Amino acid sequence: MAYDVIVIGSGPGGYVCAVKAAQLGLKVAVVEKRATYGGTCLNIGCIPSKALLHASEMFHQVAHGVDALGVEVGAPKLNLDKMMAHKDATVKSNVEGVSFLFKKNKIDGIQGTGKIVSAGKVSVTNDQGEVQELEAKSIVIATGSDVAGIPGVSVDIDETVIVSSTGGIALSKVPEKMVVVGGGVIGLELGSVWLRLGAKVTVVEYLDTILGGMDGDVSKQFQRMLAKQGMDFQLGAKVTGVEKSGAGAKVTFEPVKGGEASSIDADVVLIATGRKPFTAGLGLEEAGVVLDNRGRVEIDGHYRTNVPGIYAIGDVVKGPMLAHKAEDEGVALAEILSGQHGHVNYDVIPGVVYTQPEVASVGKTEEELKAAGIAYKVGKFPFTANGRARAMLATDGFVKILADKDTDRVLGGHIIGFGAGEMIHEIAVLMEFGGSSEDLGRTCHAHPTMSEAVKEAALATFFKPIHM
Ligand code: NAI
Repeated sequence: MAYDVIVIGSGPGGYVCAVKAAQLGLKVAVVEKRATYGGTCLNIGCIPSKALLHASEMFHQVAHGVDALGVEVGAPKLNLDKMMAHKDATVKSNVEGVSFLFKKNKIDGIQGTGKIVSAGKVSVTNDQGEVQELEAKSIVIATGSDVAGIPGVSVDIDETVIVSSTGGIALSKVPEKMVVVGGGVIGLELGSVWLRLGAKVTVVEYLDTILGGMDGDVSKQFQRMLAKQGMDFQLGAKVTGVEKSGAGAKVTFEPVKGGEASSIDADVVLIATGRKPFTAGLGLEEAGVVLDNRGRVEIDGHYRTNVPGIYAIGDVVKGPMLAHKAEDEGVALAEILSGQHGHVNYDVIPGVVYTQPEVASVGKTEEELKAAGIAYKVGKFPFTANGRARAMLATDGFVKILADKDTDRVLGGHIIGFGAGEMIHEIAVLMEFGGSSEDLGRTCHAHPTMSEAVKEAALATFFKPIHM
């Protein structure tokens, strides 16, 4: 049977592309090697980690947060198996949701490993070793990414003692001591989970700051908050070795600026030093598909590879490795394949770190504006001055808005605080419409809400906030 589109990979990029293409009238198949749809995000990434982040936060709140509100309970007892069961049930319902969407949209889901034979032809080998060949006008590579490991260091990730995020969401007991290699998003999210559940967590990070690339004000304050929660940091420290030692492991690191090496022992070591595009076994070399110098499938502005009829989206191509970026590329490509004009605005892709408090950002950081020589103004507003935040004892953090000095157009927004990941979207929508800080500041915001801090930060950007 010949399809209009075969999508290889059913993560947020692939499955959303498939659904959109089917909605637009194309005949679509999706090839997936996992037993369930949804890719890394739904099976072992975004979704299960959020189940654990929420559950561990509840545990922590009950132990430390509700007493001050007049809610007295005894010390909470952890039932890790039940917490993991909640995580597994969350994954199950989400991956089943994708199956439902495929059925609803008459998409053929084909289990097996896909390999591009040539433009228009994909062979699929299933778990039983049976091979079938499929044909399509267009092939979409949406194979995502895989754990990158530590650059230049050979590490044996056994997913029990030395774990990637995959093992990091499935530990059978709370480690006494955990070392996290890499102070990026995965390290801080999963480090927070195990810290809240009782582990002593040390993050070893190469850069002098955590969340490299985030706005400097935000990452500095965020590190202080995590330190207050009990997370230890070794910054400017390059990990040069991770080895099993007894029942645990030893992490060796040296100052980036030079100096003596040190080491820390841990029960569990989480390797969170980035991800790399996943292209192994896809037949790209044989099909003549060109990769860039970082191993990503090279594409043009319309997701076309150098081989006509073969396209790529998501983590396997350039850009931030984020599920929602992949989804939007999936939609844009489906529209292009059905003759429409799909487009993604890469200047307005929010990023959220789902810790407590959350960190969220969209658009440019202050450092980026400085480096680009763009004249800007800054407005900041702290949650300590927000009535709702006080009522909820959620006064940690602030909103920061950056706008063009001359035109007042908002160029970036950064929030650290409870619910930041939800609040960031009003700044994103404003930026999509080319709005100014005055537009945002003059938009009526319900009282009392945390979002009033966004309005106040906007007021601070173009003139003065009211409540400060
Ligand atoms: P990352 O790129 O965010 O952070 C990796 C960190 O490891 C960097 O800060 C880097 O400086 C550090 N590092 C590298 N080599 C090192 C060494 N030898 N010693 C010490 N530190 C070293 O990568 P991460 O956290 O693994 O996440 C992978 C991808 O997944 C990212 O693109 C991230 O955006 C995405 N992701 C997004 C989430 C979200 O949006 N909430 C959640 C989880 C992952």
